[in-house]
Amino acid sequence: MSPEHESTLGAIRDAVAAAEPAQDRLQRAMVTINQRHPKYEWVGVYVLRGDRLELGPYVGAPTEHTRIPVGRGVCGTAIAERANQVIEDVRALDNYLACSASVRSEIVVLIWDGDEVLGQIDADCDEVGAFDRAEEKFITEVASMLMPLVADIR
Ligand code: SME
Repeated sequence: MSPEHESTLGAIRDAVAAAEPAQDRLQRAMVTINQRHPKYEWVGVYVLRGDRLELGPYVGAPTEHTRIPVGRGVCGTAIAERANQVIEDVRALDNYLACSASVRSEIVVLIWDGDEVLGQIDADCDEVGAFDRAEEKFITEVASMLMPLVADIR
């Protein structure tokens, strides 16, 4: 993990420990990622409730995709396949839900509680290939730190 990633994980640890409602702490974590890592132009939490994902705290342009059925788009595919998604170029996909026409790459990392999926962290960037396995590792760490908060708002 890069020093920048390590430092952000520390800041998120502080955000998680703050004496605030879970929703506000999650929001603060999203702001922290967006401000420290500019390629996370849109970054947010989706919570899995039943057979659909519902948008939680996020930073970036408002999206019409506030509810996504399991199996739809990159987000719903991650749930259906129980697997993170790292998409180099969203224009190469058929099953993609555009948040904004300028988005070119996306990452979705699942939030696990044991073997149960509680939701996911989704991020978009206007550049092709913004996210790689190192970013997946970083966001996987973030996801495990945020898990109790997501369990709380779920
Ligand atoms: N692109 C996602 C939808 C979520 S928005 O990008 C915020 C998808 O294909 O599921």
